[in-house]
Amino acid sequence: MAEEQTSRKRVAVLISGRGSNMAALAAAADDPAYPAAIALVVSNRPNAAGLAIARARGIETAVVDHTTHGKDRAAFERVLQEVLERHRIDLVCLGGFMRLFTPQFVALWEGRMLNIHPALLPSFKGLDTHAHALEAGVRIHGATVHFVVPEMDAGPIVIQAAVPVLDDDTPDSLAARVVGVEHRIYPLALRWLAEGRLRRVGGRCRVDGVPGAGAVLIHPQASPSSR
Ligand code: GAR
Repeated sequence: MAEEQTSRKRVAVLISGRGSNMAALAAAADDPAYPAAIALVVSNRPNAAGLAIARARGIETAVVDHTTHGKDRAAFERVLQEVLERHRIDLVCLGGFMRLFTPQFVALWEGRMLNIHPALLPSFKGLDTHAHALEAGVRIHGATVHFVVPEMDAGPIVIQAAVPVLDDDTPDSLAARVVGVEHRIYPLALRWLAEGRLRRVGGRCRVDGVPGAGAVLIHPQASPSSR
């Protein structure tokens, strides 16, 4: 298999729904020079739309239905871990995976599991981030890829992307703008993790050999005459 010949990292993407971030990662991994291969897509929901997208791409899929384990998180995670081990997974990417993990499961994947969150963390943790951003009146919103730690929507931040919040935005229009940048930053973060460029220093993450951004985002943008 291609990933074995080139020692690409074997990645599992965990989803609960649409799977557009999974598709963005899979599209990046179509490039044989990309250092990771999407070896498996796992959903905790049997009807997640992303499963069909993965299958259409020829990616192996698995369903680990959390409802069959009731409130027993550890039992759900045992089955999930077995599936990940069976597929010899090196790295895990959460892409709209709407389950919280126990600290024990997080420890198994420490430094090897990323999540994408639709806000500029540490602002707007949890659900309904776009509605909360509109309520708060922020002018700049965005998305974050971070390492997974036991605390929800925390962990060293790998990369963030910012978008303007426009006056007539709704949660849906803002979500559409944010997900557009999610699809750009998640493949970068996974590339860097697979290449071993990410160094966690305390609560922060350094990216070796990647220059910082050369631009600033000012929104609303003042015109020269209004300075
Ligand atoms: C994405 O916007 C992702 O950031 C968010 O769910 C969406 C999944 O979309 N994740 C979370 O809210 C995690 N707390 P997708 O299934 O099309 O990738």
